[in-house]
Amino acid sequence: MEPNFEFSTQDLWERDTEYVLHPFSDLAAHKKDGCTVIASAEGVTVSDSDGNRFIDGIGGLWCVNIGYGREEMVEAIADQIRKIPFYSAFTNLTNAPAVNLATKLASLTPGDLNKVFFGTGGSMANDTAIRIVHHYFNRLGKLEKKHVISREHAYHGSTFLAMSMTGPAYHAGWDVATGFVHHVSAPYPYRRPDGMSVDGFRAQLVDELENKILEIGPENTAAFIAEPIMGAGGVIVPPPGYHRATWEVCQKYDVLYISDEVVTAFGRLGHMFASRDIFDVEPDILCTAKGISSGYQPLSATIISERIYEVISDPGGAFLHGFTYTGHPACCAAGLKNIEILEREDICGRVRRTGPLFEDALGALTDLDLVGEVRGSHFMMCVENVADKGTKKLLPAEVQVGKRIANHCQKLGLIVRPLEHLNILSPPLILSEEQIGQIAEILCKSIKATMDDIAREGLWKG
Ligand SMILES: Cc1ncc(COP(=O)(O)O)c(C=O)c1O
Repeated sequence: MEPNFEFSTQDLWERDTEYVLHPFSDLAAHKKDGCTVIASAEGVTVSDSDGNRFIDGIGGLWCVNIGYGREEMVEAIADQIRKIPFYSAFTNLTNAPAVNLATKLASLTPGDLNKVFFGTGGSMANDTAIRIVHHYFNRLGKLEKKHVISREHAYHGSTFLAMSMTGPAYHAGWDVATGFVHHVSAPYPYRRPDGMSVDGFRAQLVDELENKILEIGPENTAAFIAEPIMGAGGVIVPPPGYHRATWEVCQKYDVLYISDEVVTAFGRLGHMFASRDIFDVEPDILCTAKGISSGYQPLSATIISERIYEVISDPGGAFLHGFTYTGHPACCAAGLKNIEILEREDICGRVRRTGPLFEDALGALTDLDLVGEVRGSHFMMCVENVADKGTKKLLPAEVQVGKRIANHCQKLGLIVRPLEHLNILSPPLILSEEQIGQIAEILCKSIKATMDDIAREGLWKG
């Protein structure tokens, strides 16, 4: 069939089903249900191809931090493309936006995280981190120090290596690298062992990490990778002190600490980076993407410490890693302008004021019988729906409770992300107080409507 660039929702749906493979989708269901065609956006709202408007409760996908329709972003990207759309940054070639953005990032990152490698997505940033870690230990002659420890419920991306570090829940039916990636328990306080205090839980998790390093052998353990707050695993906020304590364990055994700030950076938690400012750790490598350009262009950064750089820049070996679009000038121009806007409008300060309002407004949903927990921080939030609040038992997966709630929300003008029994929210950071109230109200109505539906269908006690 010839491409048809005429605008018709029906036609787009049909050809979408015919030709497009959607990330993380149920392909069988997709054939039947089709999808929403998103056509335009402004501020914190997006519109579909039939002109229906929705508050964007997911910020594109955890990324449109500054909101949509920013003309100066369009100008910055277009200006750069007019000058030169692309040129390689391989070997000794460079361009001004890449240099300026790297300089800016180095000024914002904690500690001596000063050397920036650009990519075009979070998975690539994390893959890059591991390749650099392995090369670093090779250069030090520690050829066995290759194992990586990650955590259950982690999400680090979808390339082969990033998916291998992602939690096992995402592995069903797919192959991942085995042998050198290990997973320890997630710091998931809501589902900690019965009767255990949160402090006790933290101590148990920290011991588990230390024991895992000892089991693998510190001489074989290269890195520990952690999201400051787990995102796609269910917005899991660790017990207080967890990150600092795990970082100290890593220091003790010369295990490099990689902070995956693909979601948590650039204001989502009220700071440019969460690692040091919120969790008191100075990672050896910080990976970021998404909010770095607010999704206006694909961009990521793997930022490494001077200590690592000194070793890998010693004469005697080349940096054999890179992608065609590493340091892409138009993407870096978008990153620079985005950070300028974040700083000029003090969006971090704004999030520190409005984030707690968002937490409170959503927190009130815990009164509903279906809601086991509302958790998260600032503009990273999640509702965990359960069959029984006392036992925390889940509804059968076939009920698709998260999807039902998201469908009701969409009818009422809000996009939220369903993830099995969870509903996840990661809106643009410029939400007004009124919009915060609207999100909470729509979510509340949608959860109530879902409770009615599943009770009526005999799927829940009601
Ligand atoms: C914490 C984290 N790391 C890595 C990734 C992968 O990023 P990308 O999808 O841009 O490859 C994601 C994506 O959601 C993420 O949430």
